[in-house]
Amino acid sequence: MNEFFLEFKNVTKKFGESTILNNLNFKIHKGKITTILGFSGAGKTTLMKIILGLIMPSSGVVDVLGTEINHLTELELREFRRNFGMVFQYAALFDFLSSFENVAFPLREFTKLNEDEIKVKVMDLLKAVGIPIEASTRLPSELSGGMRKRVGLARALALEPQLMLYDEPTSGLDPITTHMVYDLIKETAERNAERHFTSIIISHDIHATLKYSDYILFLEKGTVVEHSDVETFKRSEKPVIRRFLEL
Ligand SMILES: Nc1ncnc2c1ncn2[C@@H]1O[C@H](COP(=O)(O)OP(=O)(O)OP(=O)(O)O)[C@@H](O)[C@H]1O
Ligand SMILES: [Mg+2]
Repeated sequence: MNEFFLEFKNVTKKFGESTILNNLNFKIHKGKITTILGFSGAGKTTLMKIILGLIMPSSGVVDVLGTEINHLTELELREFRRNFGMVFQYAALFDFLSSFENVAFPLREFTKLNEDEIKVKVMDLLKAVGIPIEASTRLPSELSGGMRKRVGLARALALEPQLMLYDEPTSGLDPITTHMVYDLIKETAERNAERHFTSIIISHDIHATLKYSDYILFLEKGTVVEHSDVETFKRSEKPVIRRFLEL
């Protein structure tokens, strides 16, 4: 069994004249939680969009589970993306749909489950992320920020993805809710561990991520400064990382 979920090989991304990602080479471990850390503008979201095939590298290759995704057609990519769950910075729920309908949406769109099966599945998903039954009929505007994140996570998990990507999952949340969201990310990873569920978190929340991640990939000005397990990362002598750790 391959122990890596994906690999970047000499990946460069330019926007016009500026090089945003500069010849990246790294592998993401399968079945683990990796956090991509870095200051604002380091290129984290750009890197995530490349993983999802939403933008293409200017040069180099991205290999996901043995498939070079930059050689796929748009149609193949769309199919391929069903392996990925995404939780965006601002939950991005459909405002006009209840919690239940938000989670049911991908199931209606991409599976042939009948109404009864959808109901069972959605209720299971909402339960797994700690949304009480009575909140299932509420609209996103009637939920707290933390609950919206939970519904977003339940929706992202509906199609049982192999990889979850979280872009700044806790921005705008208070410290208690932040820890609840990270607990949920960790629980989700553990609950799906037997199928080698892989999680990538994008964050600049250094303290929480050191507690919840297995690996850290530190990005600075489009290059990988450090990519190691958390314990090694904490001992890094690199000035930019020391500066980050001392924040
Ligand atoms: N579509 C684009 N066209 C031109 N420049 C872009 C584009 N997308 C991103 N950039 C530039 O690439 C750099 C990295 O942006 P990116 O969004 O990847 O940073 P980030 O690490 O996610 O930052 P943050 O922590 O603030 O979200 C920035 O300088 C940004 O202006
Ligand atoms: Mg970003």
